[in-house]
Amino acid sequence: MRDEEAYILGINKEELERLRFQHGVWKKVTDDFFNRIGVAKGWKCLDVGSGPGFVAMDLRERVGEQGSVTILEPAQYYIDHFKQESEKRGWTNITFLHGTAETAELPKEQFDLIFVRWVIGFVPDPEKFIVNLLSSLKKGGVIAIQDYLYSGLGLYPKGGAFDHALEMVIRHWAVSGGDAFVAAKIPAIFRKHGLEIVDYSPHCLAGGPDSDVIEWADKFFTKHMHLMVASGATTKELGDAMLEDWYAHRKNPDTIFCSPIVVDMAGRKM
Ligand SMILES: C[S@@+](CC[C@H](N)C(=O)[O-])C[C@H]1O[C@@H](n2cnc3c(N)ncnc32)[C@H](O)[C@@H]1O
Repeated sequence: MRDEEAYILGINKEELERLRFQHGVWKKVTDDFFNRIGVAKGWKCLDVGSGPGFVAMDLRERVGEQGSVTILEPAQYYIDHFKQESEKRGWTNITFLHGTAETAELPKEQFDLIFVRWVIGFVPDPEKFIVNLLSSLKKGGVIAIQDYLYSGLGLYPKGGAFDHALEMVIRHWAVSGGDAFVAAKIPAIFRKHGLEIVDYSPHCLAGGPDSDVIEWADKFFTKHMHLMVASGATTKELGDAMLEDWYAHRKNPDTIFCSPIVVDMAGRKM
């Protein structure tokens, strides 16, 4: 994604609200990841592709007044949202950087933590993305990434049109040069650039037709289906059939939805 126009999920109020809901559903997974890493008071953190800043706000709570949070984000709309939230809270130790991971000029050896959630799967060159960030990480600091191995996705009972959703998502991510299985590539990049892999933990959430996790997926598949048709990831006919199958499952008390696998990946700079 070269600029915010090219970002395949769009930048708008509806997408901001989807990201807020998404943050609530996956918050425990992200919080547990931070607990394992040991993110603590006084840490200096960079949140790359922060979106509206939902994780950045949690990080600010963790690091307190002694620490700091910097966001790096290409969408000015999301930066403005986080600015307003920070002002409301009277936070002064926040830095807002407008730009992309691949091209941003960052301060050297500055951060204890660089965090990247649901961003690197969209970019054409994940190695370039990581390498440009690494010089800003302190020795002993951690780069922590959460992203997909999309294969966990499943809507049960199977047998309907939604079974085509995985191949559609793979194609949709690929439109921007992205990779819905990017999590499989990260360890090799970490190793190549001298990072010690300290965490690689997969997570899948599952639930019935009224669960938060299916509501999370609903906000993605029903709101983005037109974008996936427009990108050529699926046809209008198959898109409509997938949605019909989806809505039928939501009325079936025996439905189980399994999320795509999200992997926590952490590398320590030696
Ligand atoms: C799906 S959102 C995730 C937002 C946030 N990380 C979260 O977990 O809620 C992806 C974000 O990455 C940003 N983004 C896209 N390409 C980027 C790049 N090359 N460098 C940095 N951020 C990027 C988008 O503008 C968007 O805000």
